Formats: sequence, structure tokens, C-alpha cells
Amino acid sequence: MALRNERLERALDRVSAEVSKRPVESSLAAAAVVTFAVVLKMRRAKKIQMARDSNDFNDTIQGSLSMLSNSDSVLQRDEVKDCIDGYEGLFAGARKATGAITTEESIAKRQSEYQKMINSFYNLVTDFYEWGWGPSFHFAPRVVGEGFMESIKRAEYHLCSRLGMKPGMRVLDVGCGVGGPMRHMCQFSGASIDGITINQYQVNVGNKYNERKGLADLCKLIQGDFQKQPFEDATFDAAYAIEATCHSPDKVQCFSEVARVLKPGCCFAGYEWVVLPGKFDPEDKDHVRIKEGIEVGNGLPTLVYPEDVVAALEAAGFEVLDHYDANREVHSPHQVPWYATLGGSMTLSGFRMTRFGRACTHALVFTLETLRVAPRGSTQVSALLNATAIDLVDGGRRQIFTPSYFFVARKK
Ligand SMILES: C[S@@+](CC[C@H](N)C(=O)[O-])C[C@H]1O[C@@H](n2cnc3c(N)ncnc32)[C@H](O)[C@@H]1O
Repeated sequence: MALRNERLERALDRVSAEVSKRPVESSLAAAAVVTFAVVLKMRRAKKIQMARDSNDFNDTIQGSLSMLSNSDSVLQRDEVKDCIDGYEGLFAGARKATGAITTEESIAKRQSEYQKMINSFYNLVTDFYEWGWGPSFHFAPRVVGEGFMESIKRAEYHLCSRLGMKPGMRVLDVGCGVGGPMRHMCQFSGASIDGITINQYQVNVGNKYNERKGLADLCKLIQGDFQKQPFEDATFDAAYAIEATCHSPDKVQCFSEVARVLKPGCCFAGYEWVVLPGKFDPEDKDHVRIKEGIEVGNGLPTLVYPEDVVAALEAAGFEVLDHYDANREVHSPHQVPWYATLGGSMTLSGFRMTRFGRACTHALVFTLETLRVAPRGSTQVSALLNATAIDLVDGGRRQIFTPSYFFVARKK
């Protein structure tokens, strides 16, 4: 059985490599398959009205046709190309010369233009994330025998338990995406949750999901900048951030804002993206290449070390109660590495996340853009995400990077 799987994986890897090597030919083949469906759906392709019930992206054709252009989109179809060009301009030199985006000047540029960088990034990638990954935009430690979605929810419920979330509490989700974690955590704990995201498209989408799931009374998303929050002092009983404050241009300011809106003695927990001391070597060109690939593909000013996160929490007025890499056992025989899903392990349910699945998506997006169904620039976005998926896998395999550095801290 194991041998068969290995053979299947090798065969899929070969096909995947072929697709990556010959995107044009592969796309033409894919075109033949999708053209019929496209023609059928073309009438609706310009502004597809999505049900927003968290199942919209389960329909491959409908989902792919609505990416970057549906009735909730904030970015217009003809703005996509400029948006991705502008975004990539903030990372000028990335992937061409190792070290190019690690200069003080390059980092300072992204820090000063963080709103544009992050908003553009999420206008471009939100649909790809939702289509390829699901409504929770984060990774999670996973044990052998555990399903992908089970592991995602377990990481979220872990925060509920460490924060003591329960009915009657008002909780802040710092950088909430389209609210996947918020809905799961509300259903699990009964707490009410306010999410803040800088991206209006995510607000439009997330609030529709809340409505459709009957959670609108308890959960809501608002558009805002977590660097200067629109909430009164001492509003919340707890706060959490899942793989979001890695985007912050100034963590002390971001965490100080979280401290300001928390009631005294209340807790803030989260998962941070960091490079790992003792493993990540800034003198190793290959490590720097991987780190920069993760930064350009994920809208990051720059990745920091765990000690920087802890120091920023303390400087913001928190007592740090616990912190560790939730993926520290990543290579134990009892764990499925957090990056395995991106790396090519084949599961039918998670097909779109695998290397082969992503190559197919890329070919499909190329075809749809060529047929002018998908907006101009869509293929560039897909290529950006594919390239960074490889960097994430490399970073995880070498254990120089983790997306799950857990912390819990109490406002003094
Ligand atoms: C990787 S996503 C994670 C989303 C969510 N926590 C989840 O796990 O599904 C990062 C989120 O941080 C938000 N974000 C980044 N910088 C922000 C800022 N300055 N203000 C508000 N939201 C921000 C993005 O808009 C996005 O929703």
C-alpha cells in the first residue's frame, strides 16, 4: 500500500513538474476541459453572486470563475494587474538577488507603506486562500490520524481554552481574515467576538458568512487598522491574533493598541510567524533566500525572532505567561508537519492545496485569464502564491521558520 502511494506520489510529482515546466501546453489541455463549462457560465462570470455559506468555493468551476471578481469584490476587474504590480514593486529585487529585500531601505519602505502593501495583498489573495485552503487562513500543528480541518480547529480551540473564553465575554480578533476562526471559536466557546481587518473585501465576505451561519448577533468584522484601533479603552475581556501581527510594521505599537483596548488583567494570545534562533542563519544564503521568499509571498515587512515578539509584548505592557513553538515536534513520527499539505502529500479532500493541485489551479487561472474570464494579473497572483508555498515548505523542512509561535500574555 505504502509502495503504491509512493508510486502514485512520484507519478503526480512528475505530472506536476511537467505542468510547471510547460504551463502553456498544460493550460491548453486544461482549456479544452474548462471551455465548455466556461461558456455555460460565461453569462454569470463577470460578477458572480456568491451564496457566502462557506461552501461556495467547494464548486471548482463556480469557485474558480468567481476568484478576484464577484459581487463582493472591492477591487475592480481592471485594477487587478496594477494592484499586483504595485504590490510586487514594494519587494523590488525579490527572488532576483538574495538579500535585496533584507536591506534597511527595502524593509523601511514596506513598513512605511504597510497599509497599501497589506490591503493590496489581501485584495489579491483572499479568494485564492479561501478556494485553496478554507475560511481559516492559518497553519496548525497536526498529529497523525488527525484531519486537516480538525487540526485547524484544534489550534483555534487551544486559544479559547488558554483565554478562558465563555458566554458573556467580549473578545477581539486581531487581523481576522474572513472570520473562519471567529466563527469556530464563537461556536465552541459562546463568547462574542469582534474582528478587525484592514481589508474591506474580507469584511464584506466575513459578515455575510456570519449572517448565513446565524452568528451575526455574536460575531462581526469591521474594517480598521490594528496599529490604531477604533475601539474605546478597556473594551475587551480577551484578545487573540492568529498569524496576523507578522504583518505589523511596528509590533510594540500594535501590541500597545491591543493592551489599550483590553481590560486590566485580561489576556492576549496568538500564533506568530518567526524565524527560529539557532536554526535560521542570516549568513546562510539559502536561509535568506527562503526567508525573503516567505516575505514577498505573504505581505510581510520582515520576519523576526521569537525574542523580538516577547520583547514587544513586554514593551507594550504585557506580562508574558507562556511562549513556545507549537510546531516544535514537527518532525516527530507522531506528527504530520504543518507544511506537509503544501508539500505534495495527496489527499482527495485537500487536493487543491497540494503541489499538483496548485499546478492545476495555476493552469486553470492562466486559461481563464487568457479567455478573459479571470481579470488580467490573476496568473501573476497565482504564480506568487505557488512560489511562496515552495519557500514555506523549504523553511518548514529545514525548521528555520514556524508559523505557529504560540504566546499568551496578561495586561499588567
Ligand atoms: C494570514 S491572515 C489571518 C487571518 C485570520 N487570523 C485567520 O487565521 O483566518 C492575516 C490577517 O491580518 C490582517 N491584517 C494585517 N495587517 C493588518 C492591519 N494593520 N490592520 C488590520 N488587519 C490587518 C489581514 O487583513 C488578514 O485578515
